[in-house]
Amino acid sequence: MLLQEIIQKKKDGLSLSDSEIQYYIEGISNQSVSASNIAAFCIAVMFKGMSMEETFSLTDHMVKSGDKLNWDDLNGPVVDKHSTGGVGDKVSIMLAPIVASCGIYNPMISGHSLGHTGGTLDKLESIPGYNTAPDNSLFRHTVKNVGCAIIGQTSSLAPVDKVIYGVRDVTATIKSIPLITASILSKKLAAGLDGLVMDIKTGNGAFADNLDFARNMANCIIEVAKQFGINTSAIITDMNQPLGGTVGNTLEIIEVIDYLKCVQREPRLHEVVLKLAAEMLAIAGLVDSNDDGFQKAKEALDSGKAAETFEKMIFQLGGPNNILENTDSHFESASVVKPIQALQSGFISQINTRAVGLTVVELGGGRKKVNNSIDHSVGLSHVLGLGTKVDIGQPLAIVHAQNEDQANNAIQQIQNSFILSEIKAKSNPVIIEHLN
Ligand code: URA
Repeated sequence: MLLQEIIQKKKDGLSLSDSEIQYYIEGISNQSVSASNIAAFCIAVMFKGMSMEETFSLTDHMVKSGDKLNWDDLNGPVVDKHSTGGVGDKVSIMLAPIVASCGIYNPMISGHSLGHTGGTLDKLESIPGYNTAPDNSLFRHTVKNVGCAIIGQTSSLAPVDKVIYGVRDVTATIKSIPLITASILSKKLAAGLDGLVMDIKTGNGAFADNLDFARNMANCIIEVAKQFGINTSAIITDMNQPLGGTVGNTLEIIEVIDYLKCVQREPRLHEVVLKLAAEMLAIAGLVDSNDDGFQKAKEALDSGKAAETFEKMIFQLGGPNNILENTDSHFESASVVKPIQALQSGFISQINTRAVGLTVVELGGGRKKVNNSIDHSVGLSHVLGLGTKVDIGQPLAIVHAQNEDQANNAIQQIQNSFILSEIKAKSNPVIIEHLN
Protein backbone atom coordinates (compact mmCIF):
# COMPACT_ATOMS: atom_id res chain seq x y z
CA MET A 1 0.00 0.00 0.00
CA LEU A 2 1.27 3.47 -0.80
CA LEU A 3 0.37 6.34 1.47
CA GLN A 4 0.22 8.87 -1.39
CA GLU A 5 -2.35 6.62 -3.12
CA ILE A 6 -4.51 6.70 0.01
CA ILE A 7 -4.25 10.50 0.13
CA GLN A 8 -5.01 10.73 -3.61
CA LYS A 9 -8.08 8.53 -3.16
CA LYS A 10 -9.41 10.85 -0.44
CA LYS A 11 -8.57 13.92 -2.55
CA ASP A 12 -10.68 12.36 -5.32
CA GLY A 13 -13.57 12.17 -2.86
CA LEU A 14 -13.57 8.36 -2.60
CA SER A 15 -14.14 6.32 0.55
CA LEU A 16 -11.17 4.76 2.27
CA SER A 17 -11.28 1.14 3.42
CA ASP A 18 -10.68 0.10 7.01
CA SER A 19 -7.28 -1.37 6.03
CA GLU A 20 -6.21 1.86 4.32
CA ILE A 21 -7.09 3.88 7.41
CA GLN A 22 -5.33 1.30 9.58
CA TYR A 23 -2.20 1.61 7.39
CA TYR A 24 -2.22 5.41 7.81
CA ILE A 25 -2.66 5.34 11.60
CA GLU A 26 -0.12 2.54 12.15
CA GLY A 27 2.30 4.54 9.99
CA ILE A 28 1.93 7.48 12.35
CA SER A 29 2.57 5.17 15.33
CA ASN A 30 5.71 3.68 13.80
CA GLN A 31 6.80 7.09 12.49
CA SER A 32 6.87 6.03 8.83
CA VAL A 33 4.22 8.66 8.08
CA SER A 34 5.71 12.18 8.08
CA ALA A 35 4.12 15.43 9.27
CA SER A 36 3.61 16.48 5.63
CA ASN A 37 1.79 13.19 4.92
CA ILE A 38 -0.46 13.86 7.91
CA ALA A 39 -1.07 17.43 6.75
CA ALA A 40 -2.00 16.28 3.21
CA PHE A 41 -4.33 13.61 4.61
CA CYS A 42 -6.06 16.06 7.00
CA ILE A 43 -6.50 18.66 4.25
CA ALA A 44 -8.04 16.01 1.97
CA VAL A 45 -10.43 14.91 4.76
CA MET A 46 -11.27 18.52 5.59
CA PHE A 47 -12.43 19.18 2.01
CA LYS A 48 -13.89 15.79 1.03
CA GLY A 49 -15.23 14.62 4.39
CA MET A 50 -15.62 11.04 5.60
CA SER A 51 -18.55 8.65 5.84
CA MET A 52 -19.67 7.34 9.23
CA GLU A 53 -17.90 4.03 8.45
CA GLU A 54 -14.63 5.82 7.70
CA THR A 55 -14.98 8.00 10.82
CA PHE A 56 -15.63 4.86 12.87
CA SER A 57 -12.49 3.17 11.42
CA LEU A 58 -10.37 6.25 12.02
CA THR A 59 -11.53 6.45 15.64
CA ASP A 60 -11.05 2.71 16.16
CA HIS A 61 -7.46 2.67 14.90
CA MET A 62 -6.62 5.78 16.89
CA VAL A 63 -7.86 4.04 20.06
CA LYS A 64 -5.78 0.97 19.14
CA SER A 65 -2.66 3.14 18.86
CA GLY A 66 -2.44 3.07 22.68
CA ASP A 67 -3.74 1.56 25.91
CA LYS A 68 -7.33 1.33 27.04
CA LEU A 69 -8.28 1.81 30.68
CA ASN A 70 -10.35 -0.85 32.34
CA TRP A 71 -12.65 -0.02 35.24
CA ASP A 72 -14.15 -3.48 35.86
CA ASP A 73 -13.07 -3.25 39.51
CA LEU A 74 -15.50 -0.35 40.09
CA ASN A 75 -18.94 -0.94 41.37
CA GLY A 76 -20.86 1.60 39.28
CA PRO A 77 -21.17 3.38 35.96
CA VAL A 78 -18.18 5.19 34.46
CA VAL A 79 -19.41 8.33 32.72
CA ASP A 80 -17.71 11.50 31.54
CA LYS A 81 -18.59 14.83 30.00
CA HIS A 82 -16.59 16.59 27.31
CA SER A 83 -16.86 20.22 26.30
CA THR A 84 -15.62 21.58 23.00
CA GLY A 85 -14.30 24.58 24.92
CA GLY A 86 -15.24 28.15 25.60
CA VAL A 87 -14.42 31.28 27.53
CA GLY A 88 -14.96 31.08 31.30
CA ASP A 89 -16.01 27.44 30.97
CA LYS A 90 -15.28 25.97 34.38
CA VAL A 91 -18.20 23.50 34.23
CA SER A 92 -16.10 20.30 34.40
CA ILE A 93 -14.62 21.22 37.76
CA MET A 94 -18.09 21.73 39.26
CA LEU A 95 -19.70 18.80 37.52
CA ALA A 96 -17.24 16.00 38.36
CA PRO A 97 -17.73 16.24 42.16
CA ILE A 98 -21.51 16.66 41.78
CA VAL A 99 -21.98 13.49 39.72
CA ALA A 100 -19.38 11.59 41.77
CA SER A 101 -21.37 12.31 44.92
CA CYS A 102 -24.46 10.88 43.14
CA GLY A 103 -22.80 7.51 42.37
CA ILE A 104 -21.04 8.04 39.03
CA TYR A 105 -17.35 7.27 38.60
CA ASN A 106 -15.87 10.09 36.58
CA PRO A 107 -12.27 9.69 35.40
CA MET A 108 -11.98 12.99 33.57
CA ILE A 109 -9.09 13.48 31.20
CA SER A 110 -8.78 17.14 30.32
CA GLY A 111 -6.56 19.49 28.38
CA HIS A 112 -4.54 22.68 28.69
CA SER A 113 -5.65 25.89 27.04
CA LEU A 114 -4.66 26.82 23.54
CA GLY A 115 -5.84 29.94 21.75
CA HIS A 116 -8.67 32.00 23.20
CA THR A 117 -10.38 29.19 25.19
CA GLY A 118 -9.33 28.23 28.69
CA GLY A 119 -8.15 24.77 29.77
CA THR A 120 -9.48 22.83 32.75
CA LEU A 121 -5.96 21.66 33.62
CA ASP A 122 -4.57 25.21 33.80
CA LYS A 123 -7.37 26.14 36.16
CA LEU A 124 -6.61 23.16 38.42
CA GLU A 125 -2.87 23.82 38.26
CA SER A 126 -3.51 27.17 39.97
CA ILE A 127 -4.25 25.13 43.12
CA PRO A 128 -0.97 24.75 45.04
CA GLY A 129 0.29 21.14 44.92
CA TYR A 130 -2.47 19.77 42.65
CA ASN A 131 -0.94 17.10 40.42
CA THR A 132 -2.54 16.87 36.97
CA ALA A 133 -0.19 14.04 35.98
CA PRO A 134 -0.45 11.47 38.81
CA ASP A 135 0.82 7.94 38.28
CA ASN A 136 -1.69 5.35 37.22
CA SER A 137 -2.14 3.94 40.71
CA LEU A 138 -2.93 7.33 42.31
CA PHE A 139 -5.32 8.16 39.46
CA ARG A 140 -7.19 4.85 39.91
CA HIS A 141 -7.14 5.14 43.70
CA THR A 142 -8.69 8.64 43.50
CA VAL A 143 -11.41 7.60 41.04
CA LYS A 144 -12.23 4.55 43.17
CA ASN A 145 -12.26 6.30 46.56
CA VAL A 146 -13.47 9.79 45.74
CA GLY A 147 -15.51 9.06 42.60
CA CYS A 148 -13.73 11.53 40.35
CA ALA A 149 -10.26 12.62 39.31
CA ILE A 150 -9.50 15.32 36.78
CA ILE A 151 -6.10 14.81 35.22
CA GLY A 152 -4.22 15.49 31.97
CA GLN A 153 -3.93 13.35 28.88
CA THR A 154 -1.39 10.57 29.42
CA SER A 155 0.99 9.61 26.64
CA SER A 156 -0.42 6.08 26.55
CA LEU A 157 -4.05 6.94 25.66
CA ALA A 158 -4.65 7.39 21.89
CA PRO A 159 -1.08 8.66 21.40
CA VAL A 160 -1.50 9.28 17.65
CA ASP A 161 -4.14 11.92 18.43
CA LYS A 162 -1.46 14.16 19.93
CA VAL A 163 0.63 13.85 16.75
CA ILE A 164 -2.30 14.44 14.40
CA TYR A 165 -3.69 17.30 16.51
CA GLY A 166 -0.27 19.02 16.50
CA VAL A 167 -0.27 18.97 12.68
CA ARG A 168 -3.93 20.04 12.43
CA ASP A 169 -3.27 22.97 14.74
CA VAL A 170 -0.66 24.48 12.38
CA THR A 171 -2.39 23.55 9.11
CA ALA A 172 -5.83 25.08 9.84
CA THR A 173 -7.48 21.65 9.77
CA ILE A 174 -9.05 21.64 13.23
CA LYS A 175 -12.52 22.43 11.90
CA SER A 176 -13.30 19.07 10.29
CA ILE A 177 -16.14 17.04 11.80
CA PRO A 178 -14.69 13.55 11.14
CA LEU A 179 -11.28 14.63 12.47
CA ILE A 180 -12.84 16.25 15.56
CA THR A 181 -15.01 13.18 16.16
CA ALA A 182 -12.09 10.75 15.94
CA SER A 183 -9.88 13.02 18.06
CA ILE A 184 -12.39 13.44 20.90
CA LEU A 185 -13.78 9.91 20.86
CA SER A 186 -10.43 8.11 20.57
CA LYS A 187 -9.39 9.66 23.90
CA LYS A 188 -12.79 9.03 25.53
CA LEU A 189 -12.95 5.41 24.34
CA ALA A 190 -9.38 4.80 25.53
CA ALA A 191 -10.49 6.11 28.94
CA GLY A 192 -12.86 3.12 29.15
CA LEU A 193 -16.18 4.95 29.57
CA ASP A 194 -19.69 3.46 29.68
CA GLY A 195 -21.33 6.76 28.83
CA LEU A 196 -20.50 10.23 27.57
CA VAL A 197 -22.28 13.57 27.52
CA MET A 198 -21.01 16.20 25.10
CA ASP A 199 -21.31 19.93 25.73
CA ILE A 200 -20.98 21.47 22.27
CA LYS A 201 -20.47 25.19 22.49
CA THR A 202 -21.62 27.49 19.74
CA GLY A 203 -21.30 31.24 19.29
CA ASN A 204 -18.65 33.91 18.91
CA GLY A 205 -16.47 32.42 21.66
CA ALA A 206 -16.57 28.82 20.40
CA PHE A 207 -14.79 27.15 17.52
CA ALA A 208 -18.21 25.91 16.32
CA ASP A 209 -19.28 29.46 15.47
CA ASN A 210 -22.58 28.47 13.83
CA LEU A 211 -25.42 26.24 14.98
CA ASP A 212 -25.44 23.99 11.88
CA PHE A 213 -21.80 23.09 12.38
CA ALA A 214 -22.39 22.44 16.11
CA ARG A 215 -25.42 20.25 15.33
CA ASN A 216 -23.61 18.22 12.66
CA MET A 217 -20.67 17.73 14.97
CA ALA A 218 -22.94 16.59 17.83
CA ASN A 219 -24.78 14.12 15.59
CA CYS A 220 -21.57 12.64 14.21
CA ILE A 221 -20.05 12.17 17.68
CA ILE A 222 -23.26 10.61 19.03
CA GLU A 223 -23.60 8.20 16.10
CA VAL A 224 -19.97 7.03 16.11
CA ALA A 225 -19.89 6.70 19.93
CA LYS A 226 -23.06 4.60 19.84
CA GLN A 227 -21.47 2.27 17.27
CA PHE A 228 -18.79 1.63 19.91
CA GLY A 229 -21.50 0.84 22.45
CA ILE A 230 -21.04 4.07 24.44
CA ASN A 231 -24.32 5.61 25.47
CA THR A 232 -23.94 9.23 24.38
CA SER A 233 -25.96 12.42 24.24
CA ALA A 234 -25.15 16.07 23.63
CA ILE A 235 -26.36 19.50 24.54
CA ILE A 236 -25.56 22.52 22.45
CA THR A 237 -24.91 25.56 24.65
CA ASP A 238 -24.49 29.24 23.98
CA MET A 239 -21.02 30.79 23.92
CA ASN A 240 -21.91 34.33 22.84
CA GLN A 241 -20.75 35.55 26.25
CA PRO A 242 -18.34 34.19 28.86
CA LEU A 243 -19.83 31.50 31.08
CA GLY A 244 -20.07 32.73 34.68
CA GLY A 245 -18.54 35.83 36.18
CA THR A 246 -14.83 35.08 35.82
CA VAL A 247 -12.29 34.35 33.08
CA GLY A 248 -8.79 33.32 34.19
CA ASN A 249 -7.44 30.34 36.07
CA THR A 250 -7.32 31.18 39.80
CA LEU A 251 -10.36 33.44 39.50
CA GLU A 252 -12.35 30.61 37.93
CA ILE A 253 -11.31 28.14 40.65
CA ILE A 254 -12.50 30.61 43.28
CA GLU A 255 -15.79 30.89 41.38
CA VAL A 256 -16.04 27.06 41.39
CA ILE A 257 -15.49 26.95 45.15
CA ASP A 258 -18.03 29.74 45.79
CA TYR A 259 -20.46 27.83 43.58
CA LEU A 260 -19.99 24.53 45.43
CA LYS A 261 -20.27 26.30 48.81
CA CYS A 262 -23.44 28.04 47.65
CA VAL A 263 -21.91 31.50 48.15
CA GLN A 264 -22.75 32.56 44.58
CA ARG A 265 -24.21 30.75 41.56
CA GLU A 266 -24.36 32.63 38.28
CA PRO A 267 -27.69 31.50 36.77
CA ARG A 268 -26.55 30.59 33.22
CA LEU A 269 -23.59 28.63 34.54
CA HIS A 270 -25.83 26.91 37.11
CA GLU A 271 -28.29 25.92 34.38
CA VAL A 272 -25.57 24.31 32.25
CA VAL A 273 -24.06 22.46 35.23
CA LEU A 274 -27.41 21.04 36.38
CA LYS A 275 -28.47 20.08 32.86
CA LEU A 276 -25.22 18.21 32.23
CA ALA A 277 -25.35 16.54 35.65
CA ALA A 278 -28.95 15.39 35.02
CA GLU A 279 -27.95 14.10 31.59
CA MET A 280 -24.97 12.18 32.99
CA LEU A 281 -27.11 10.61 35.73
CA ALA A 282 -29.73 9.58 33.16
CA ILE A 283 -27.11 8.08 30.83
CA ALA A 284 -25.61 6.23 33.80
CA GLY A 285 -29.04 4.72 34.54
CA LEU A 286 -29.04 6.17 38.08
CA VAL A 287 -32.29 8.13 37.60
CA ASP A 288 -35.51 7.47 35.72
CA SER A 289 -35.86 10.88 34.16
CA ASN A 290 -34.00 14.07 33.52
CA ASP A 291 -36.12 15.78 36.20
CA ASP A 292 -35.03 13.20 38.78
CA GLY A 293 -31.43 13.74 37.70
CA PHE A 294 -31.84 17.46 38.12
CA GLN A 295 -33.20 16.99 41.68
CA LYS A 296 -30.48 14.52 42.64
CA ALA A 297 -27.74 16.85 41.39
CA LYS A 298 -29.30 19.80 43.22
CA GLU A 299 -29.43 17.81 46.47
CA ALA A 300 -25.75 16.85 46.13
CA LEU A 301 -24.92 20.51 45.71
CA ASP A 302 -27.18 21.97 48.37
CA SER A 303 -26.29 19.37 51.02
CA GLY A 304 -22.58 20.20 50.63
CA LYS A 305 -21.77 16.64 49.48
CA ALA A 306 -20.42 17.87 46.15
CA ALA A 307 -18.21 20.46 47.87
CA GLU A 308 -16.85 17.75 50.19
CA THR A 309 -16.11 15.47 47.20
CA PHE A 310 -14.30 18.34 45.48
CA GLU A 311 -12.15 18.96 48.57
CA LYS A 312 -11.31 15.24 48.79
CA MET A 313 -10.32 15.09 45.11
CA ILE A 314 -8.06 18.13 45.50
CA PHE A 315 -6.40 16.63 48.60
CA GLN A 316 -5.95 13.16 47.07
CA LEU A 317 -4.23 14.71 44.08
CA GLY A 318 -1.73 16.72 46.11
CA GLY A 319 -3.58 19.96 46.89
CA PRO A 320 -4.45 21.42 50.32
CA ASN A 321 -6.75 19.42 52.60
CA ASN A 322 -8.87 22.47 53.42
CA ILE A 323 -9.38 24.30 50.14
CA LEU A 324 -12.95 25.20 51.12
CA GLU A 325 -11.77 27.17 54.16
CA ASN A 326 -10.20 30.62 53.79
CA THR A 327 -10.19 29.95 50.07
CA ASP A 328 -8.41 33.15 49.03
CA SER A 329 -5.44 32.39 51.30
CA HIS A 330 -4.51 29.35 49.17
CA PHE A 331 -3.97 31.37 46.00
CA GLU A 332 -1.62 34.03 44.71
CA SER A 333 -3.36 37.18 43.61
CA ALA A 334 -2.40 39.60 40.83
CA SER A 335 -0.58 42.85 41.67
CA VAL A 336 -2.94 45.27 39.91
CA VAL A 337 -6.72 45.07 40.26
CA LYS A 338 -8.77 47.72 38.45
CA PRO A 339 -12.37 48.24 37.32
CA ILE A 340 -13.10 48.36 33.59
CA GLN A 341 -15.56 51.22 33.31
CA ALA A 342 -18.32 51.45 30.74
CA LEU A 343 -17.68 54.36 28.35
CA GLN A 344 -21.41 55.03 27.95
CA SER A 345 -24.72 54.05 29.52
CA GLY A 346 -26.96 51.39 27.99
CA PHE A 347 -27.72 47.67 27.81
CA ILE A 348 -24.91 45.23 27.01
CA SER A 349 -26.15 44.02 23.63
CA GLN A 350 -23.13 42.18 22.27
CA ILE A 351 -19.90 40.75 23.66
CA ASN A 352 -17.00 39.71 21.45
CA THR A 353 -16.36 36.59 23.53
CA ARG A 354 -13.32 35.48 21.55
CA ALA A 355 -11.72 38.90 22.18
CA VAL A 356 -12.45 38.53 25.91
CA GLY A 357 -10.62 35.16 25.87
CA LEU A 358 -7.71 36.68 23.94
CA THR A 359 -7.50 39.56 26.43
CA VAL A 360 -6.83 37.00 29.19
CA VAL A 361 -4.22 35.31 26.96
CA GLU A 362 -2.53 38.72 26.50
CA LEU A 363 -2.52 39.20 30.28
CA GLY A 364 -0.50 35.95 30.49
CA GLY A 365 -3.41 33.72 31.56
CA GLY A 366 -3.42 31.57 28.41
CA ARG A 367 -1.07 30.15 25.82
CA LYS A 368 -0.13 31.37 22.35
CA LYS A 369 2.07 28.28 21.85
CA VAL A 370 1.72 24.80 23.36
CA ASN A 371 4.77 25.13 25.65
CA ASN A 372 4.14 28.70 26.90
CA SER A 373 3.94 29.03 30.68
CA ILE A 374 0.93 30.61 32.35
CA ASP A 375 0.33 33.26 35.01
CA HIS A 376 -2.56 31.73 36.93
CA SER A 377 -3.48 34.83 38.92
CA VAL A 378 -4.46 37.16 36.06
CA GLY A 379 -7.84 37.50 34.35
CA LEU A 380 -11.24 39.09 34.74
CA SER A 381 -13.77 38.92 37.53
CA HIS A 382 -17.26 40.40 38.00
CA VAL A 383 -17.84 40.10 34.25
CA LEU A 384 -21.32 41.36 33.38
CA GLY A 385 -23.57 39.44 30.99
CA LEU A 386 -25.64 40.30 27.94
CA GLY A 387 -28.75 42.35 28.66
CA THR A 388 -27.33 44.00 31.81
CA LYS A 389 -28.08 47.72 32.10
CA VAL A 390 -25.03 49.82 32.98
CA ASP A 391 -24.47 53.51 33.67
CA ILE A 392 -21.49 55.35 32.29
CA GLY A 393 -18.47 54.66 34.53
CA GLN A 394 -19.95 51.51 36.04
CA PRO A 395 -17.58 48.47 35.86
CA LEU A 396 -18.20 45.98 33.03
CA ALA A 397 -15.66 43.72 34.74
CA ILE A 398 -12.59 43.91 36.98
CA VAL A 399 -9.16 43.23 35.51
CA HIS A 400 -6.46 41.38 37.47
CA ALA A 401 -3.03 42.01 35.94
CA GLN A 402 0.65 41.93 36.88
CA ASN A 403 1.36 45.55 35.92
CA GLU A 404 -0.34 48.83 35.00
CA ASP A 405 0.45 48.56 31.27
CA GLN A 406 -1.11 45.12 30.96
CA ALA A 407 -4.11 46.26 32.97
CA ASN A 408 -4.61 49.34 30.78
CA ASN A 409 -4.35 47.29 27.55
CA ALA A 410 -6.91 44.84 28.90
CA ILE A 411 -9.23 47.69 29.92
CA GLN A 412 -9.16 49.04 26.38
CA GLN A 413 -9.71 45.61 24.80
CA ILE A 414 -12.67 44.83 27.04
CA GLN A 415 -14.24 48.25 26.51
CA ASN A 416 -14.01 47.55 22.75
CA SER A 417 -15.42 44.04 23.14
CA PHE A 418 -18.63 45.12 24.90
CA ILE A 419 -21.23 46.82 22.69
CA LEU A 420 -23.84 48.92 24.52
CA SER A 421 -27.17 49.96 23.05
CA GLU A 422 -30.23 51.86 24.16
CA ILE A 423 -32.62 48.97 23.65
CA LYS A 424 -32.45 45.73 25.59
CA ALA A 425 -32.03 42.84 23.14
CA LYS A 426 -33.88 39.54 23.61
CA SER A 427 -31.66 37.23 25.67
CA ASN A 428 -30.49 33.92 24.18
CA PRO A 429 -31.16 30.77 26.18
CA VAL A 430 -27.95 29.17 27.39
CA ILE A 431 -29.16 25.66 26.51
CA ILE A 432 -29.96 25.68 22.82
CA GLU A 433 -30.58 22.06 21.92
CA HIS A 434 -30.51 18.55 23.31
CA LEU A 435 -29.57 15.66 20.99
CA ASN A 436 -29.38 11.94 21.60
N1 URA B 1 -10.96 18.81 20.96
C1 URA B 1 -10.22 17.70 20.68
O1 URA B 1 -9.82 16.97 21.56
N2 URA B 1 -9.99 17.42 19.38
C2 URA B 1 -10.41 18.19 18.36
O2 URA B 1 -10.16 17.87 17.23
C3 URA B 1 -11.18 19.35 18.67
C4 URA B 1 -11.44 19.63 19.99
